[in-house]
Amino acid sequence: MKILLLGKGGQVGWELQRSLAPLGELIAVDFDSTDYCGDFTNLSGLADTIRAIAPDIIVNAAAHTAVDKAESEPELARTINALAPAILAQEAQRLGAWLVHYSTDYVFDGSGTAPWTVTSPTGPLSVYGQTKLEGEEAIGASGCKHLIFRTSWVYAARGGNFARTMLRLAKERDRLTVIDDQIGAPTGADLLADVTAHAIRTALQRPDVSGLYHLVAGGQTSWHGYASFVVDFARQAGVDIKVAQEAILPVATSAFPTPATRPNNSLLNTEKLQQTFSLTLPHWQTGVARLLTEIL
Ligand SMILES: NC(=O)c1ccc[n+]([C@@H]2O[C@H](COP(=O)([O-])OP(=O)(O)OC[C@H]3O[C@@H](n4cnc5c(N)ncnc54)[C@H](OP(=O)(O)O)[C@@H]3O)[C@@H](O)[C@H]2O)c1
Repeated sequence: MKILLLGKGGQVGWELQRSLAPLGELIAVDFDSTDYCGDFTNLSGLADTIRAIAPDIIVNAAAHTAVDKAESEPELARTINALAPAILAQEAQRLGAWLVHYSTDYVFDGSGTAPWTVTSPTGPLSVYGQTKLEGEEAIGASGCKHLIFRTSWVYAARGGNFARTMLRLAKERDRLTVIDDQIGAPTGADLLADVTAHAIRTALQRPDVSGLYHLVAGGQTSWHGYASFVVDFARQAGVDIKVAQEAILPVATSAFPTPATRPNNSLLNTEKLQQTFSLTLPHWQTGVARLLTEIL
C-alpha cells in the first residue's frame, strides 16, 4: 500500500505523518520538497509526482489557508485550493486511487444556528470559501474515489494557535475582548489525522463510502467561550494570569474588521461521518484540555 501525503508541514499534514505511517509505505512531500514536486502552483509538476509514485491513496493536506490574504490574491488561492485538487482528482481517477481531501465550514454563509449538514446549501462569503468549494466540486465531478472532510476551527500543538495567543494576552493584559457571535467547535489536527486513518481503513474495504463528510469535535462554543476555557484552565493549572475571568469580555465580530467575512455559524453536523465509520467524536473541551496540558 503506497500513500502519498501532500502538504506534510501544515497543522494537519504534520499529524497525518504520524497517523498514516502504520497504514503502508508513506511518501510525504511539501511545497519545497526536492525528490518530488509538491508545489500546488506547479500543476504539471504535481501530476508528474503522482504518475511517478503511483500511490494507492493520495492525502491532500495542502491549502491556501490565509483567509484574509486570499481576498487580495484570488488567483493564487484558486490555483492551490481548486485547480491543484482537480489535478489530484484527475490523476487519482486515472490510477483508481483514493483521494482524501479537507474542506471547510467557510463554504457556508454562516446564517442560522443549526449545524450544517452535508446536503445544506453552500454560499461562501470569502475567496477562501469559494475556492475551497470549487476544489470540492472538482473532486466530486472527477469520478475518483474520494473522502472529503469539511472541518472548522483547526488547532495544533505545533506552531502558533488561538490558545497560545489568548494565553499570552491573558498574562499581559487586565482586560480581553473576544468575539462571541461566531460559533463553532475547535477541532484538533490530531483528531482529524486519527479519524482520517480510521476512515481510510474502512474505505479500502468499502468503496461505497466515497463522498463528503463533516468532521469536527463534539459540542459548540464561541471564540469568547473558547478563550474563557483556555484562560480558566491555565489559571487552575497555576499559570500566572493577569486578566480576571470576568474581564474577558464578549464583543461582536464588527469590533475586529477583517478583509474576509467569516461565517457566524460554523457548526457542522457530523452524524453521517459517525454512523458511516462507527466513530465517536470527542467533545471539543477534551482536545483543547489536552493541547493546554501539552503547551503549558
Ligand atoms: N486551519 C483551519 O482552521 C481550517 C479550518 C477548516 C478547514 N481547514 C482545511 O484543513 C486543511 C489543512 O489545513 P491546516 O490547518 O493544516 O492548514 P495549514 O497549517 O496552513 O497547512 C496548509 C499547508 O499547505 C501548504 N501550502 C501553502 N501553499 C502551498 C503550495 N503552493 N504548495 C504546496 N503546499 C502549500 C502550507 O505551507 P506554508 O505554511 O509554508 O504556507 C501548509 O504547510 C486545509 O484543506 C484547510 O483548508 C483548515
